[in-house]
Amino acid sequence: MRRPIIAGNWKMNTCRETGVALVAALKAEVPAPSDSVEVVVCPPYPYLGLIAAEAAGSGVEVGGQNAWYETSGAFTGEVSCEMLQDVGCQWVVLGHSERRQINGESDELINTKVRKALSVGLKVILCVGELLDDREGNRTEVVLETQMTGGLVDVSAEQMASVVIAYEPVWAIGTGKVASDEQAEDAHRFLRGWLESRFDGNVAAATRILYGGSVKPDNASGLLGQPNVDGALVGGASLKPELFIPIIRAGETSVS
Ligand code: PGA
Repeated sequence: MRRPIIAGNWKMNTCRETGVALVAALKAEVPAPSDSVEVVVCPPYPYLGLIAAEAAGSGVEVGGQNAWYETSGAFTGEVSCEMLQDVGCQWVVLGHSERRQINGESDELINTKVRKALSVGLKVILCVGELLDDREGNRTEVVLETQMTGGLVDVSAEQMASVVIAYEPVWAIGTGKVASDEQAEDAHRFLRGWLESRFDGNVAAATRILYGGSVKPDNASGLLGQPNVDGALVGGASLKPELFIPIIRAGETSVS
């Protein structure tokens, strides 16, 4: 059984006050770690320590939205994996499409970060996904294959226990255009097959693959009910407890 994960990517949103209020509402909902759903929030860097302290002991875990691959040094503006851990993060999101597109992150750079994060004991949510052009040109699987191959260079089957994949079709992120249940399931099935051929059947069966892109309370059950969809990475709807909590509940009842 793969325990569903509902992860909130706050992106460059919230402030001290709204972030604390948000995590307080989630904590009330998941006061202790739960066997039926894992809840993760990824606030902006300045609030990570504060939010991690607020969430401590509850069922809400905390992750960074990005990280750098060196431990310390002359990397102005960057934050290391060790720093994320130091302020209470268990997770880091890597390869988000906004990092790939706006910041020009390559699969090679993302892979360096993935290996670093795993080496220090952070759990990784590795994002992959095709552009609208790719989907319309029937290149979805080629893109996913390239991003998975590039992102997971030199990652071992054992390390995959700390890796979660997030399938996020770029055309569905922040657009309100969600992938259909069938489109999501097709991509997730493809990704699981890729995991089987790159690693083995055990890794394929155990790795959680999240869907991301305009997940809302009204489409969450359909998406999360797909056999190969093991959770959600949620942007906009993770900023409002009244939207995020029903998605957590949909995750809880979706165990496949
Ligand atoms: P969205 O963002 O839910 O606002 O579409 C998802 C994401 O970028 O992870």
